[in-house]
Amino acid sequence: MKVSVSPGHNIDGTLILPLLQGSECVPESLEAGLHTALKSQINRILSDGDFKAKAKSTMSIIGSEGGKAVMVGLGKEQDADIHAYRKAGAAVVASRKKAHGTDFTARFSGASIEAMGAFVEGMMLRDYSYDHYKLKDDDDDEEKEITVRINCDEAQEKELNTLIQNHVGVVSGVHLSRDLGNCPPNDMYPEAFADRAWEWAKQYDNVNVTIINYDQAVKAGMGGLVAVGMGSARKPCMVIFEMNSESKGRGPMLVGKGITFDTGGISLKPGANMDEMKYDMGGSATVFGTMEALAATGYAGKVTAITCMAENMPSSNAQRPGDVIKTLSGKTIEVLNTDAEGRLVLSDGLWKAGEFDPEYIIDFATLTGACVVALGHEATGLWSNDDDFRTRIHEAGNAVDELAWPMPLLPAFEKEMTDSKIADTRNLGAGRYGGANTAAAFLKQFVPNRGYKKDGEQITWAHMDIAGTYWGAKTNSMVGNGATGVHVRTIYHLITNG
Ligand code: BES
Ligand code: ZN
Ligand code: ZN
Repeated sequence: MKVSVSPGHNIDGTLILPLLQGSECVPESLEAGLHTALKSQINRILSDGDFKAKAKSTMSIIGSEGGKAVMVGLGKEQDADIHAYRKAGAAVVASRKKAHGTDFTARFSGASIEAMGAFVEGMMLRDYSYDHYKLKDDDDDEEKEITVRINCDEAQEKELNTLIQNHVGVVSGVHLSRDLGNCPPNDMYPEAFADRAWEWAKQYDNVNVTIINYDQAVKAGMGGLVAVGMGSARKPCMVIFEMNSESKGRGPMLVGKGITFDTGGISLKPGANMDEMKYDMGGSATVFGTMEALAATGYAGKVTAITCMAENMPSSNAQRPGDVIKTLSGKTIEVLNTDAEGRLVLSDGLWKAGEFDPEYIIDFATLTGACVVALGHEATGLWSNDDDFRTRIHEAGNAVDELAWPMPLLPAFEKEMTDSKIADTRNLGAGRYGGANTAAAFLKQFVPNRGYKKDGEQITWAHMDIAGTYWGAKTNSMVGNGATGVHVRTIYHLITNG
């Protein structure tokens, strides 16, 4: 999508008209340059009450001698916050028909710069489809890039333009996260992800990508990563992203679960919907997408990220239930179920994170089906060893309309995960209850103390279980289907707005 901002009154292509619920005519401030035939048709529709402008509703006018238009509802005035504007922008793109063409002009009445920016952001977020594996039809209008022009006051032009350019960068991160998640698992395997990261980093002077390959992981003692990935012909690896590493002081650290396909391993999953386990690298995609959002918008602070990439396959080389593995931390884990593999790869990723002495660590993982049972597709599960930090993440999510819901990190859950007869920990809870909480408690054991000091303070850490929100979230109106790219915007907001 190409977006431009201009103070003129020209209407190029189809007019987009965001309206508050109860509007009975075209607001006077929007009348300039509007063809009288189109204006009277819109006014008739509104005064007859045929379009009520309820939130996210749209109505098209096609065939008028005065041009084409799409009216979109912002809902009631008191509810028309930036989230309503973002959703309205997305609704316009979702409802787009061939007859609308590809050129649009949007005009707002009394909207703030933030609201107009959010509307454009919603349009850009929703303007996404994953069609790399389909034959292209060059003549098809729907495949041509959409161009949108925003009419605004002269005084708003500069600020709005800057805001939109920032949204362009962040949206590129969200779309990257979706691209990675949607990619079929025959093409998205650990090394393919690493190669993409490596190639991607070349365009930014301030970003470095390092890949720890299989042999290096074995040598380093990354027993969790190795155990999960060794059953696949496509070997595991760890990818480290460093942005502005030269800059002084501590920076955030993001860690992602990157299981490019989760069959369950020897503890094989049932067949139904197993294809969806291509999304099990959603945590790593979130991390990569966030790095793109930060890099594309020229973020100058230090940020580091680690993705733990493996394919969980059953084979004669695969780990078995009953195996005891030794992780990078030195702690041993009794593997009671090879399908609880995300926590194994993350145990090494979290421990490795300590080497960078980060300000805080956040991990992202499609970790448990139990989290989907608890929260459905409406919210990400959020755990932290620091209540204030958990609140900050929750609020960052609210600020961009991506819900992350606080969940309990309790000593009892941790105890449940250390109750192994032959190892330091076990990768399975005692029963199936509270499975998302026991998984979070398991991870906590691998969050290092600052400087790896034995009795030191544990690094501030949060865990985000995106099993229900990374894909299949039908109420997420920012995306049509497939991977959502959720939390790139949350974490971008957290990092750039404190
Ligand atoms: N990747 C799955 C979690 C998952 C399942 C995400 C369904 C989204 C939808 C994870 O590796 C897994 O299989 N977890 C097990 C853990 C159990 C064996 C303790 C689960 O949730 O069943
Ligand atoms: Zn699994
Ligand atoms: Zn998994």
